[in-house]
Amino acid sequence: MSGNDGGTGRWKGKVALVTGSSSGIGAAVARRFAGLGASVLVNSFHSVEAGQAVADSLPGARYVRADVGDEQECARLVDVALGEWDRIDVLVNNAGIGPVIPHQNLNDAPLEIWKEVFSVNVFGPWALTVAAAPALAESKGSIVNVTSLAGIREVGSSVPYACSKAATNHMTELLAKVMGPDVRVNAVAPGLVDTPRTETWEGAREGYRHVAPMQRPATADDVADVVMFLAENQYVTGEIMVLDGGFGLTR
Ligand SMILES: NC(=O)c1ccc[n+]([C@@H]2O[C@H](COP(=O)([O-])OP(=O)(O)OC[C@H]3O[C@@H](n4cnc5c(N)ncnc54)[C@H](OP(=O)(O)O)[C@@H]3O)[C@@H](O)[C@H]2O)c1
Repeated sequence: MSGNDGGTGRWKGKVALVTGSSSGIGAAVARRFAGLGASVLVNSFHSVEAGQAVADSLPGARYVRADVGDEQECARLVDVALGEWDRIDVLVNNAGIGPVIPHQNLNDAPLEIWKEVFSVNVFGPWALTVAAAPALAESKGSIVNVTSLAGIREVGSSVPYACSKAATNHMTELLAKVMGPDVRVNAVAPGLVDTPRTETWEGAREGYRHVAPMQRPATADDVADVVMFLAENQYVTGEIMVLDGGFGLTR
């Protein structure tokens, strides 16, 4: 598929599986793929009504409730997509959780929290990749992982969150080495993005206004732009594309 034809229906006949697409970045990505003609599998675990509403608003989309922190549920998500459309062209591992825990509060981040965060942010993308790999190889498709600047710089909502994103960045590079030439694997690593998750993070937003060269947080659509680029370009693989308005340069 060419990313340069500008055709609004250029994803017609193709399938996008976007985890965590009931809100924020995932919903923007789902809308973008659907707007270009793709059939989209919309997913969430807790916000069922919101996920269903996103799917209902998109032509050819289907909502599937599943916990990406559960290996069997990940396999089921892939099975549903293949049962419905018989192909997968892009897997966007976007679902993520990130409790806010000041980094210095070591006792507030017990292993229970680490396991929960890693289940969704690391083990889920792995399980989905394993399940979707044959279909992606057949379609010459790609994987886009939504990670974070927190996986690269010493920032982020908590230490377990930042480490989970670092792990998924590394997973992205390792998988890119072994899944080519049939499947490309990339990540977008955003800094602060205006989404429901960050609605109350006024301090962080203020920091971006004053410190980041671009003087604002990203929008979910800024992230969707990068996801689309990574999904459509036919040569880039193993790339962790930072999208932080230059904020990381100032750390
Ligand atoms: N916003 C930022 O500043 C920012 C910055 C860097 C990276 N990111 C990353 O971008 C991704 C999306 O974040 P966002 O800001 O758009 O957050 P959001 O608005 O809270 O959306 C998160 C999505 O993930 C879903 N989700 C959470 N746990 C899930 C599970 N176990 N199974 C399936 N779906 C699950 C949520 O639905 P339910 O909870 O209802 O299941 C929701 O659809 C995350 O990976 C996040 O780490 C965000």
